[in-house]
Amino acid sequence: MTTPEPADRVLARASLAEGDPTGWFDRLYTAAARGEAEVPWTRGRPNADLAAWVRPGEGRRALVVGSALGDDAELLAAHGWAVTAFDVAPTAVAAARDRFPRSDVDYVVADLLHPPGEWRHAFDLVVEIINIQAMPRGFRAAAVKSLASFLAPGGTAIVSEVAEENMDMAHWQGPPWPFSRAEIESVAQDGVRLVSLDTIHDGARYWATFTR
Ligand SMILES: C[S@@+](CC[C@H](N)C(=O)[O-])C[C@H]1O[C@@H](n2cnc3c(N)ncnc32)[C@H](O)[C@@H]1O
Repeated sequence: MTTPEPADRVLARASLAEGDPTGWFDRLYTAAARGEAEVPWTRGRPNADLAAWVRPGEGRRALVVGSALGDDAELLAAHGWAVTAFDVAPTAVAAARDRFPRSDVDYVVADLLHPPGEWRHAFDLVVEIINIQAMPRGFRAAAVKSLASFLAPGGTAIVSEVAEENMDMAHWQGPPWPFSRAEIESVAQDGVRLVSLDTIHDGARYWATFTR
């Protein structure tokens, strides 16, 4: 007997076959809300690496990319950041608002590939954890350019993605599509510069910080 393919992979394949890099996310969150699927990246708590890194926000502005069900955004808000958190999936944004009804976080439906113009150079902290790698490589350069554009002068961008260098890429089937070191470093564009680039989790992921 063969094990049924998880819903996220079935939905991703159908969406990508139509040339739509992000439509499957909302379908997956909707199916999960009905109890028909699992969202593999939801943990019900903040990312442990971000929790280990977090500094006091003191009212400065933070942007959480691909905010899913809101745990990382709430972590930053609890540390004094004025947080905007966005996701392309309306169902995820609605779920985050429902989970944290008294939250100070501004949860927004938006697409990293077509962000609001007023976000340019507007955030003192930008957090990108395993979202860009979830879109096919053809969208990577545009997504990275958009990400870099959010960072305000003197701010910090955190970028964490699966590290290609330690994966068996010959047999890899995305999503996700891991990053090379050069792709992580490419966030350093348009005045943004690399501050640190480390591997974490036994080399499985990159953890990079940038400033402008
Ligand atoms: C693999 S999940 C990671 C979620 C979260 N960052 C985490 O670390 O658990 C990718 C998330 O990014 C969102 N996403 C994918 N493409 C996006 C885009 N172009 N713009 C905004 N959000 C996007 C998805 O809906 C999903 O919630």
